[in-house]
Amino acid sequence: MTQRKILVTSALPYANGSIHLGHMVEHIQTDIWVRFQKMRNHTCFYVCADDTHGTPVMLAAQKMGVKPEEMIEKVRQEHLADFTGFLIGYDNYYSTHSPENKAFSQGIYKALKANGKITVKTIEQLFDPEKQMFLPDRFVKGECPKCGAKDQYGDNCESCGTTYLPTELKNPYSAVSGAKPVLKSSEHYFFDLSSCEDFLREWTSGETVLSNGKKQAHLQPEALNKMKEWIDGGLQNWDISRDAPYFGFEIPDAENKYFYVWLDAPIGYFASFKNLCERLNLDANEWLKADSSAEMVHFIGKDILYFHALFWPATLKFSGYRTPTAVFAHGFLTVDGHKMSKSRGTFITAKSYLDEGLNPEWLRYYIAAKLNSKIEDIDLNLQDFISRVNSDLIGKYINIAARSAGFIKKRFSGCLKNVAGHSLIAHLQAKAEEIAQLYEEREYARALREIMLLADMVNEYTDANKPWELAKQDGADEKLHEVCSVLMNAFKILSVYLSPILPATANAVAAFLNIPALLWDDATRTLPENHKINDYNHLMKRVEQAQIDRLLEANKQSIQPAAVENKADFEPVAPVCSFDDFTKVDMRVGEVLSCEAVEGSNKLLKFQIDLGFEQRTIFSGIAQSYPEPEKLVGRKVIAVVNFAPRKMAKFGVSEGMLLSASSNGKLFLLNVEDGAEVGSKVG
Ligand code: 2FM
Ligand code: ZN
Repeated sequence: MTQRKILVTSALPYANGSIHLGHMVEHIQTDIWVRFQKMRNHTCFYVCADDTHGTPVMLAAQKMGVKPEEMIEKVRQEHLADFTGFLIGYDNYYSTHSPENKAFSQGIYKALKANGKITVKTIEQLFDPEKQMFLPDRFVKGECPKCGAKDQYGDNCESCGTTYLPTELKNPYSAVSGAKPVLKSSEHYFFDLSSCEDFLREWTSGETVLSNGKKQAHLQPEALNKMKEWIDGGLQNWDISRDAPYFGFEIPDAENKYFYVWLDAPIGYFASFKNLCERLNLDANEWLKADSSAEMVHFIGKDILYFHALFWPATLKFSGYRTPTAVFAHGFLTVDGHKMSKSRGTFITAKSYLDEGLNPEWLRYYIAAKLNSKIEDIDLNLQDFISRVNSDLIGKYINIAARSAGFIKKRFSGCLKNVAGHSLIAHLQAKAEEIAQLYEEREYARALREIMLLADMVNEYTDANKPWELAKQDGADEKLHEVCSVLMNAFKILSVYLSPILPATANAVAAFLNIPALLWDDATRTLPENHKINDYNHLMKRVEQAQIDRLLEANKQSIQPAAVENKADFEPVAPVCSFDDFTKVDMRVGEVLSCEAVEGSNKLLKFQIDLGFEQRTIFSGIAQSYPEPEKLVGRKVIAVVNFAPRKMAKFGVSEGMLLSASSNGKLFLLNVEDGAEVGSKVG
């Protein structure tokens, strides 16, 4: 068999959110495919990374009072821990904020520029005069121009579904500072996608001949149709620059301009691979150069097809690199037939699943049983999840070993008979290529149906031969030995077939059968005469309803106070904070001695606060809510007193923070009841 070279990726998760079961569908789908390719002895590398750049990450870090670099590294570790918990076997899980990515991104940009693909144009956009930053659409809010619903985002209305431009919102305000945005113009850099039309028509409908001679279409038929529609609709030039402040890579020779996150995100695939190659001492260029014979396939969600099937191939083509061999898109995950919902507890984080002690292989199995090569949404039906795992995985597969291993151990000192040529074994072995083909084509559901049919046959054989009765009959030893040896070999073959989906179980099976890690070819090899197996320890537990109930509860609790769906104006509840962490924040009752507006800022007020033990200067960004600041004198407030002093741009140093509640983009001070004395501790 020709040994293929395959570079595989899953979409890079954003560094400002948790990994949830929606992500897991894709990474499980990819991991199964990669494990299968590795079992076939192909050289296959699976790389991923966190997608770290952009305004949301920058603002999230600011909100936490940490550097973005610090936040993204912490999040990367958390993401990797979640994925590892689900047995996702990346060869590298890196970050787009890496030196490799910077070098690739700037190099690719320069090549595009040299090829005449970059144009510069001045455009007008909404600008936050407080924050001194341009506002991405999602950071402008206001009233829907169509139905008047309040607090809608700048791109579409969640109430009536209309899409519009942020400039069309009525009474717009910045979701960052609450300020009224103004229109401001600046120069933007564009990737001239319209000039790539001929190439994109050809690439999207094209195929690659693989090193084994087989043909691989670049896109699934549904994706190709969608791309045709988009290309026919006219390709718009793509705005790839953002103005400072922005967390990202600077554009060479352009002052204060950064690459838009979506420019450097897919380049992050290259960067992660390059980083891996440096570690393994491989030549990345062999894989990435324009005429590389290696394959490069991207697993993605259907929502980001545009980026992967148009922008990305065009970017690669016109900067002199290889283009993807294939983009494999999948649908969305629904839970019990609905979009994942925080109030129902079905917005399930990967961490909560693992923390509740659920077995990751249950989910891998269930997801695989639902996946095919089409772009269809898949449903995690929790009752079906319980019954499929328990009846198929445990009842049909695991039980084969559970019902026969003991006899081999007790009656035959753990030694097997050679059962090569036995009709059942031969039948199971003969399916190896058919099942391999289904994995290759990402038809996992069909592969599992085939495998479970084989498991049914094995169970019928068990029931027909009843080893537990043979064990009681005199003179039936020979038969018992043969039946149990057939069952052990059958179990091994099924384990090979399930290996990409159940990697931990496959390893445990190899240890129990006393053989090296399973490869695909092991399906067609029978264990030799007198091969000695090890003790059988139970391989997998059943799912209990109570575990699922607890999982839903755990995910419900974390969002309970905001349990009203579609209320975009409620902030999601932050992750659990321990009491110990809470007590680190020293909050005191203070009294306002003076309060004045700050010249040059229409957001800040400058307070002099009496804390009993000392007086401090504190700046607070609440000017919008208090047009007559002097009226606050004498009022009691709550102040955080153990933050490090913070420089407030050119205005001075703030020696604490006043607590306030944020509503509709404005901030309101909290009241203190009479009787609470200045300086007393809050908590
Ligand atoms: O949609 C997303 O979650 C993006 N972070 C995916 C990026 S994939 C790749 F292009 F980097
Ligand atoms: Zn509306």
